Amino acid sequence: MDFPALRAEFPVLRRVAYLNAGTDGPLPARAVEAAAQELEREAQEGRSSAHFGRRSELGRDLRRAYAGLLGCEPGDLALTSCTSEGIAGTVAGLPLGPGDEILTSDEEHPGLLGALVAARELRGVSIREVPLARIADEVGARTRLVACAHVGWVSGSTAPAELAEVDVPVLLDGAQGVGAIAVDVHALGCDAYAGAGQKWLCGPDGTGMLYLSASLREQVQVSRRCFGNLLDPDAGLQARLQEDARRFDSPSLSAETLACALAALGLLESVGWAAAHRRARDLAARLAALLAERGREVAPRADTTLVSFASREPEQERAQLAESGCIVRNIPGRPWLRASVGAWNDEADLDRLLATLSR
Ligand SMILES: Cc1ncc(COP(=O)(O)O)c(C=O)c1O
Repeated sequence: MDFPALRAEFPVLRRVAYLNAGTDGPLPARAVEAAAQELEREAQEGRSSAHFGRRSELGRDLRRAYAGLLGCEPGDLALTSCTSEGIAGTVAGLPLGPGDEILTSDEEHPGLLGALVAARELRGVSIREVPLARIADEVGARTRLVACAHVGWVSGSTAPAELAEVDVPVLLDGAQGVGAIAVDVHALGCDAYAGAGQKWLCGPDGTGMLYLSASLREQVQVSRRCFGNLLDPDAGLQARLQEDARRFDSPSLSAETLACALAALGLLESVGWAAAHRRARDLAARLAALLAERGREVAPRADTTLVSFASREPEQERAQLAESGCIVRNIPGRPWLRASVGAWNDEADLDRLLATLSR
């Protein structure tokens, strides 16, 4: 499939310059259709054992597909409902207490910060924030975990490669990573990687993934156990946890959600991940250059798919842009608007944004 054909699969792109995948990706029509088909089957056939078989088959397929994207084994990957769920479960399950420190950066999303605040409030763990670029050098004697973005949500900066060398566990928040740029959890040297299905993978809300290395899995306690997390759920009070990452799965992912996510992935795969990543990064770099040419300050960024740029009235300008058919977001508390550029976008989307901005 070529890029114009990919673009034609997204109804929203016929109406607006949708540059907001960092919030929620555009939904392809075929993913909506796949969800509708599952619901129709459920309506017609009811939901008995065959339905549960179907759910587990779809779950197995999605786990394989996500694991392929992260470069890990399916047994090392849990299916979650969002990035934050994977982060929260990992941080809450680690045996940390007073005297221990979690090192993080000063540009993290609330989806990660919530888990750190809970560790501080409930268990007396200290949290230290440092600039993302310096985080690997700041690991200290009390640091028990490094938790930070793989790709920062504010402006698309990336975690330093030196994190692969630190000798404490590293948890990467991949909400702006997986689907946007190539990810290989082994090359990144992380012990945990939490990602979203609804952003750069164009899946439905309520999808996500958590990679946990076998060694970190042994340290993370699972306090919330639902029956899908059990190896032998019929063993009553003797039931044991799944041995692989399924112990961290979200309790109930519906067939329609799973089918929708799989159909979206299938579409993106049909242009090839390497080509999709390259196109999105190239378009984002082009947008950054055109904005700078027109005198808009562009926030420091890396070779990613996010482009943040200065705005005097970010909220107001975002609303004005939306009225003119350009969907971007503002970053709360900072003087930036953020455009998210995907392989489904084209030069016309960028031109529309630039034309609207210069009015
Ligand atoms: C860097 C980052 N982390 C976490 C989140 C939260 O993602 P989710 O809704 O998948 O939990 C976001 C959402 O925008 C994000 O940008």
